[in-house]
Amino acid sequence: MCGIVGYVGNKNSVPILLDGLKKLEYRGYDSAGLAVPGNGMVEIVKEVGNLSHLEDAVSNNRINGNLGIGHTRWATHGRPTQANAHPHNDCKNKISVVHNGIIENFIELKEALIGRGHTFHSETDTEVIPHLIEECYDGDLFEAVQSAIKDLEGSFAIAVICQDNPDLIVVARKDSPLIIGIGDREYFVASDIPAVLNYTKDIFILQDCEMAKITSKGISITTFEGEEVNKDIFKVKWDDEAAEKGGYEDFMLKEIYEQPKAIRETLRDKFGKDGEIIFEEVPFGKEKACELNKVVIIACGTSYHAGLVGKQAIEQWAKVPVEVDISSEFRYSNPILNENDLVITITQSGETADTLAGVREAKNRGATVIGVTNVLGSTITREADGMIYTHAGPEIGVAATKTLVSQMAVLYVFALYLAKCRGTLSDEEIAAIACDIQKLPDQVEEILSANGKIKDVANKYANCADFLYLGRGIGLPVALEGALKLKEISYIHAEGYAAGEMKHGPIALLDEGVPVVAIATKSKVHEKILGNIQEVRARGADVIAVSTFGDKEIEKVADHTFYVTETMETLSAILAVIPLQLLAYYMAKARGCNVDQPRNLAKSVTVE
Ligand code: G6P
Repeated sequence: MCGIVGYVGNKNSVPILLDGLKKLEYRGYDSAGLAVPGNGMVEIVKEVGNLSHLEDAVSNNRINGNLGIGHTRWATHGRPTQANAHPHNDCKNKISVVHNGIIENFIELKEALIGRGHTFHSETDTEVIPHLIEECYDGDLFEAVQSAIKDLEGSFAIAVICQDNPDLIVVARKDSPLIIGIGDREYFVASDIPAVLNYTKDIFILQDCEMAKITSKGISITTFEGEEVNKDIFKVKWDDEAAEKGGYEDFMLKEIYEQPKAIRETLRDKFGKDGEIIFEEVPFGKEKACELNKVVIIACGTSYHAGLVGKQAIEQWAKVPVEVDISSEFRYSNPILNENDLVITITQSGETADTLAGVREAKNRGATVIGVTNVLGSTITREADGMIYTHAGPEIGVAATKTLVSQMAVLYVFALYLAKCRGTLSDEEIAAIACDIQKLPDQVEEILSANGKIKDVANKYANCADFLYLGRGIGLPVALEGALKLKEISYIHAEGYAAGEMKHGPIALLDEGVPVVAIATKSKVHEKILGNIQEVRARGADVIAVSTFGDKEIEKVADHTFYVTETMETLSAILAVIPLQLLAYYMAKARGCNVDQPRNLAKSVTVE
């Protein structure tokens, strides 16, 4: 959802900015641009399309300097054209701005600025910012930014430079993420940590309504009102290789193969020596768990599917009713909540605007909110009452894979924790489930090493226009996620559906040209799904099934089967989703798609 970078120090900023933008491309890749103070005015290079176009343009241009800002765009206001690409300048081309977020009142600001004689070159909301700063500027860029942002409504993380001072970047944030990497007499500004990891692991995380004045000689951080802020340095534990492809063709494939490690790392701090279940940052003990009225899970995209799996685990084990809602629906639904309700919000990025708005809504109504995220220091960590962290490492591929399985893993453990607090399972039952949960990383490994034929099946069906994914019970969220993965990265239309509901509509779509993917792992509804598969076959559709090793029945009815390891039914979702990630991946590759950067999508959706 747009990425911004900045550099000030004693090196040439251009390669550092390009490197940072490369790490942020997952946030948007409609266009990219750089600004560096030059001869008499800020020099700008910007190009439509992904970063490679900007890299080519920069190599034909002698732009360089020890200070600069850069941007990679996910278009919100205005098409992905060169004019709409950031950075944007003031009328005199002295002040340059990159922005992530949305200025909600830009139309009225723009009309007023035009009325006062300003000239605009783009359709973006961002362009009002340099013009507002221009009006406030009388030699002090920091003060000018401080005044100008008072007029802005909406969300922003901005980096601003001015031709008059080629050793100063001013940054400010409200509701969009911004971090500052600390080097040796140099600083790095970015929307997200991976962008600076090649240079430093020492970070300042800017909070809402904070801004900073950054020069090669030092940094001062204040609130928007000018109050000084003393910040602790956040030490990043990931190594920089975690954000590289490490020999894989794409980040997505690397991240699929990292899933055993992601689950293992995620589970590591959740189980103590004597089978104790530990959630250090969750203010929710026995008393609250026993008074619990209901749980509401809110999330978007793939995280929503993790929520559907979490619902089944919590209801099964902790015997509390669970509702799962899409954040963008929940926030406007006038939800019925009170202090005995628990809201669990799942967001790998910790920055999804709709999810954060849902959290505020839930807190206003008195519910306790627990966040599940993969990003330490992200906005959700400050908004929720308690946090559960997944430790999947940085996920760069836009389509979520390792963060999903890590979310499922922590939800399983949290369901068990609630069951323990509420006394709904015996100690023996809890120990048995905990043991099965801890086997999951090895089981995922086993599935990944037995995936030989998925690529062939993907190649066979890669030209089909439509797919139907069917599941029941714990298989339903898996079917929904399988269909979402296929849509996201291969642009094939795919529908995930409850298998029993198929006869009420989707069956009309079926013929020889519409393959059906059926989740048929061992479960109490196994016979039922076999029946649904027969119905599908009777309409001429090919069936690709996901089943449990050793299932002989499935071979009689499916054209192709991907097998997963046997585990208890509730846990099987985390295993059954693996072959579907690979199926979508190979299908997208067969169609020549860019799997890491699917069109129109972004990894972190910081706008409503
Ligand atoms: C975007 C990403 C998805 C992700 C969704 C929710 O659409 O492309 O992969 O599942 O946002 O993101 P969150 O960070 O809230 O989990």
